Amino acid sequence: MKTPSNSWVERSLQSVWHPCTQMQHHETMPLIPVSHGCGAWLVDMEGKRYLDGISSWWVNLFGHANPRINAALKQQLDQLEHAMLAGFTHEPVIRLSEKLSALTGGVLGHCFYASDGASATEIALKMSFHFWRNHGQTEKQEFICLKGSYHGETIGALAVTDVALFRDAYGPMIRNAHVVASPDARQAAEGESAIDVARRAAADMERCLQERADKIAAVILEPLVQCATGFAMHDPEYLRLVRALCDQYQVHLIADEIAVGCGRSGTFFACEIAQIWPDFVCLSKGISGGYLPLSLVMTRDNIYQGFYHTDVRRGFLHSHSYTGNPLACRAALATLEIFESDDVLAQNRVKADAITQALQPLAQHAQVKHFRQQGMMWAFDVEFDDAKDKQAAKTFSRRFFTQALQEELLLRPIGNTVYLMPPYILNQEEISLVGERMLKVFNHVMGETA
Ligand SMILES: Cc1ncc(COP(=O)(O)O)c(C=O)c1O
Repeated sequence: MKTPSNSWVERSLQSVWHPCTQMQHHETMPLIPVSHGCGAWLVDMEGKRYLDGISSWWVNLFGHANPRINAALKQQLDQLEHAMLAGFTHEPVIRLSEKLSALTGGVLGHCFYASDGASATEIALKMSFHFWRNHGQTEKQEFICLKGSYHGETIGALAVTDVALFRDAYGPMIRNAHVVASPDARQAAEGESAIDVARRAAADMERCLQERADKIAAVILEPLVQCATGFAMHDPEYLRLVRALCDQYQVHLIADEIAVGCGRSGTFFACEIAQIWPDFVCLSKGISGGYLPLSLVMTRDNIYQGFYHTDVRRGFLHSHSYTGNPLACRAALATLEIFESDDVLAQNRVKADAITQALQPLAQHAQVKHFRQQGMMWAFDVEFDDAKDKQAAKTFSRRFFTQALQEELLLRPIGNTVYLMPPYILNQEEISLVGERMLKVFNHVMGETA
């Protein structure tokens, strides 16, 4: 006999501590027990479907239960599920590292592996710090991050994350970084362009570097879109300016492409849009097609060489048990194969135009501010003016999420920013559905607050 879905919810609430959740909110907010996935859709245990408009926390690229990734994983499962990567190596990790390096034209020659995004952040920070130490520049111990930055929630990653909600409770545990202006284009004053904002933010970065470059190991940033802090988008000029500043002041540039890499921004690596290469690139989320926890840090060869020595302590003695897991690497290889064989980046350009078109009624809505897009990401803000509205603003995100579920959409606004970050496989029918239903949900929720 099939167990009723409400009993799965009960059992989950009794036994599972859900991530990024005030568990008490589930007294009024639905918890959805997922039965299976297919393409862009997740299906719950009662057969109700939800179009995954946020790619399950930005990881899914080619749909749930993708037959090509499934087939690759099944094959890999019969061959090798896991082997430690210290002292051993295997085909999937070698082929994946070679392919990724080739995608940078060989500029970033080595890949170091972990599982989650936050671990990749920690690895890049540690590598930069340790590189300077190996180089005899032991005073270079500090980091610069941007206002509103998000690089993960482990203690080291929180040090370069500027989101009070995630940081404040752990303040005494965290080593502070220098926080400089964000190039968020929404800050443009009357008559200013996104490039003007980028230049202003770069000038702030330069002030910090002028003062402290001899103590700074690296600048870490999310190229083009600061996703977690409300999809703040900036002009690529900012990346060019920061690259030049990092060269001038001898500071590493770490590009956290965990959310914006893997085609999400329009090119495979977001930095390609600005035609720059950083010293480190962090990838995770989409790299395994949204199948398995996989993260990695790519580095330039001079960094790799800075650790290559007879002295073991000059090596990078960092590891995780599942580093370079063959299944995860095989899922990543299958994902890269789809990029190649289906010319995904070109297809996405066409699809992105269609999605922007479908969202036009929302973009033109009087209560929608700063409608914006980068590659396969869309966002807009809702402004709440008077005091009554301000009260409504506090619950906007949860009410929108709940109403969207009624319309078969999985969407989770961040504060008063609504965003869409779907898998790359939406068809025209699904694109139209998303446009129509998002508008309907928006009108409903704004009606409630009126
Ligand atoms: C830019 C960025 N960096 C790091 C992370 C952390 O990744 P994870 O949640 O896999 O630790 C995220 C997660 O959303 C992210 O968006």
